[in-house]
Amino acid sequence: MRILVTGGAGFIGSHLIDRLMNQEHEILCLDNFYTGHKRNIIKWLDNPYFELIRHDVTEPIRLEVDQIYHLACPASPVHYQYNPVKTIKTNVLGTLNMLGLAKRVKARFLLASTSEVYGDPDVHPQTEEYRGNVNCIGIRSCYDEGKRVAETLAFDYHRQNNVDIRVIRIFNTYGPRMLENDGRVVSNFISQALRGNPLTVYGDGSQTRSFCYVSDLVEGMIRLMNGDYIGPVNIGNPGEYTILQLAKTIQEMVNPDAELTFKPLPQDDPKQRQPDITRAKTWLGWEPTISLEEGLKLTIEDFRDLAYSKRVED
Ligand SMILES: NC(=O)c1ccc[n+]([C@@H]2O[C@H](COP(=O)([O-])OP(=O)(O)OC[C@H]3O[C@@H](n4cnc5c(N)ncnc54)[C@H](O)[C@@H]3O)[C@@H](O)[C@H]2O)c1
Repeated sequence: MRILVTGGAGFIGSHLIDRLMNQEHEILCLDNFYTGHKRNIIKWLDNPYFELIRHDVTEPIRLEVDQIYHLACPASPVHYQYNPVKTIKTNVLGTLNMLGLAKRVKARFLLASTSEVYGDPDVHPQTEEYRGNVNCIGIRSCYDEGKRVAETLAFDYHRQNNVDIRVIRIFNTYGPRMLENDGRVVSNFISQALRGNPLTVYGDGSQTRSFCYVSDLVEGMIRLMNGDYIGPVNIGNPGEYTILQLAKTIQEMVNPDAELTFKPLPQDDPKQRQPDITRAKTWLGWEPTISLEEGLKLTIEDFRDLAYSKRVED
């Protein structure tokens, strides 16, 4: 198949491309390199079945493809809040353009949505029926409301134009190739510990998150794309940890001498987040297989390698 991956030079997109290339598909990777990097896909650049397109999804594009994985959108608060108007344009205009493309060429379209559509949830764990508790005028709205509109667009294109859609709601995902400066908790803690800096915990660290290793997520994405269910489907790891537990685990694995510091919680920071994955289990036969310890080990190795290669370059 010829498959378009938007945001393909990013963290999740590049892992997805690795898997799809190994399955011998023809891949078109589209990215504007806002948070994505060529180094993530460099190993495919000379492969005749791989094509890199520098393009912004807020502009329309004509391509011939069978499937579209639509991931283009900065995912970490640091990056999506840097230019919130651009973030909402990416979510709304970008998704419109990609759905328009899917409609024109009759491609199957998968939207990478997010657990952020549940906002600061008052239902726990979150099932797909839960409609969320989202602040439409807060600093996270460009992202979470943007993704809610993207989901609406996908379902309206499906109902009105018969576009073949899939919607996945991704919960916190981590792994190699996350950016060390992106403010996400796993990458923050690991890079702080590697540098011997204190690990910054926001609030008292009692807020919880669940962490899914990237290879598990990619497996769920591919299953949803190629199965019969439209979704939305939660994909995440239901193992729930407090932020303080995570900080202590990483501290122990990387640098037991690193200290912890505490800072105030940012606005609208969700207190709890845990996916109910009943749908993923029954519809896709999917559940996570990589434990947090295993996944952290692989991620820490990648961060160490990157830090080492940067020192060598310097
Ligand atoms: N990582 C997570 O925990 C997580 C959780 C929920 C949802 N998601 C979703 O998964 C997708 C991928 O996230 P990620 O973690 O890989 O983030 P990422 O920032 O590493 O990847 C996003 C990619 O999209 C590209 N991009 C951004 N705006 C673009 C635009 N206007 N045009 C073209 N390309 C653009 C970036 O350059 C980057 O390569 C996003 O849609 C995100 O919302 C991620």
